[in-house]
Amino acid sequence: MAEPSEARIQIERGLQELGEAFRESFSTASDEQTLRGAKAEFLGKKGRLTALLKLMGKVAGDERRAIGEQVNQVKRDVEAAFDARLDELVAQERRADLAAPPFDLTMPARLPVARGHRHPLSLVKDEILDIFNSLGFEIAWGPEIELEDNNFTKLAFPPDHPATDMQDTFWVRVDGAPDDARVLLRTHTSNVQVREMSKHHPPMAIVSGGAVYRRDDDITHSPMFHQVEGFLVAEDVSFAHLKGVLSEFAKRLYGPDTEVRFRPSYFPFVEPGAELDATCAFCKPDDGSRDTCRVCKGTGWLELLGCGMVHPRVLEFCGIDPERYTGFAFGLGVERVAMLRYGVNDIRVLFENDPRFLAQF
Ligand code: DAH
Repeated sequence: MAEPSEARIQIERGLQELGEAFRESFSTASDEQTLRGAKAEFLGKKGRLTALLKLMGKVAGDERRAIGEQVNQVKRDVEAAFDARLDELVAQERRADLAAPPFDLTMPARLPVARGHRHPLSLVKDEILDIFNSLGFEIAWGPEIELEDNNFTKLAFPPDHPATDMQDTFWVRVDGAPDDARVLLRTHTSNVQVREMSKHHPPMAIVSGGAVYRRDDDITHSPMFHQVEGFLVAEDVSFAHLKGVLSEFAKRLYGPDTEVRFRPSYFPFVEPGAELDATCAFCKPDDGSRDTCRVCKGTGWLELLGCGMVHPRVLEFCGIDPERYTGFAFGLGVERVAMLRYGVNDIRVLFENDPRFLAQF
């Protein structure tokens, strides 16, 4: 038999050294990351075994098989030693976890936890609902994810009305629903009108409050805000009833001296439609405070809500005979009332929920 080649000698020596080195290095690795690093030092692309393999080209043909087998054996040894050490480390960690002092989830908190209270928006919304409730309106609820029909179509919005635009409406895709199912985050609480009028027969007087959504975002607008909606449908309801109810509401909200005025306005679901202003409760006409009033900007009036006589088409869409019944409806923004009430001029503080702000109510 011929003398072993130089390359073979080099490889065999290398394998021997390596065989001692990896055991030493694995057994001193005390965590998984170090262990993996150590493995790479032997088997990685720039590892010691890979370097030895590069010498294979120089090994004589008849020696290759035997050398190849030795190399593979060492590789298997490295892998087995790695797996064994890894198991050991995992078991060690688990034992340490189990032996650690346990978390006692039932332990009482160290400080007495201050009692919370309702959010200022909830306080104002409930106050408004309570006023209407005490005037005989029943409280109802409507969903925030709504069909286009209930939010727009049955409220007599024409299909191309700007409010239905991608610009200010969040459309929602519902998994599994047919492609023509048009669903959105409601843009106002007027959807409750449609739902209640379709479900019940007049006479009815209903009020509802909740969150609504529009693509609006600045210091007085938030993409999510709250409205209160009310309506009354019966025989012989006139604008005089609307005026009586809403004047009383304004007095109960802002004080007994509050007066109201109506300005003509347009909403597709009422005819005639109006906006209602209440006299400013934050200044007085004759002591000079009006001229400098930042709330009403010296006008003496605060815009309070939108309202009108329910459009006969809306009654009809909801299955109510418009020849027999008439009704009025109104809707107002809760944030605006809260901002006026608490002297907040940036709507965002109402949603940031900073405890220092909330603690003031
Ligand atoms: N839905 C209207 C809005 O979001 C507010 C409104 C106006 C509601 C007139 C009404 C109404 O019920 O009659 O701007």
